[in-house]
Amino acid sequence: MNNIVLIGFMGVGKGSVAREIVRQSGMVAIDTDDIIESMENRKIKKIFEEEGEPYFRKIEARVAKWLRESVNDTLISTGGGFYKVPKLQKIGKIVLLDAPFETIYQRIIDHPNAQKKLKKRPLFQDVNKAEALYNEREPHYRAVADIVIDVSGKDYATIAKEILKKTAKHSE
Ligand code: S3P
Repeated sequence: MNNIVLIGFMGVGKGSVAREIVRQSGMVAIDTDDIIESMENRKIKKIFEEEGEPYFRKIEARVAKWLRESVNDTLISTGGGFYKVPKLQKIGKIVLLDAPFETIYQRIIDHPNAQKKLKKRPLFQDVNKAEALYNEREPHYRAVADIVIDVSGKDYATIAKEILKKTAKHSE
């Protein structure tokens, strides 16, 4: 399979790190939220509003099965709840992007498009609820990860390089 799967909490930087890995390695990349939005032809926020979370999780599990059976040599970034899909580790090397909740929240609010970034995330509407979700998930993220990368205080290029080194994919 040889895939790299980026997991981690909302806003930790999975998408930005994925783009930097692509730049450094030439790998092809896909994102599970993007796949689901194109399957459904509507935004994640709309899917949550119109169908509810359990419907979204079922599609995630379907995407996971497809990734497991049909995708190779690809960098896969995922939504923050994707770590729960069955047989996650069969998809590829699981890389957790890890940072304290305060760092993640600060990173979102410092972004020029902060409001947009928060609005599109149905599970980040209330900061206290998001923090509780973070605390609940953190041990589970660690339990499924093959590699844990502490991303605090590092730029995307450094994080990408570290991931490529640890997964033995060398930059060209
Ligand atoms: C979710 C994270 C989101 C998206 C959906 C649910 C979660 O992805 O999949 O809103 O359960 O943490 P990001 O991690 O890219 O925000």
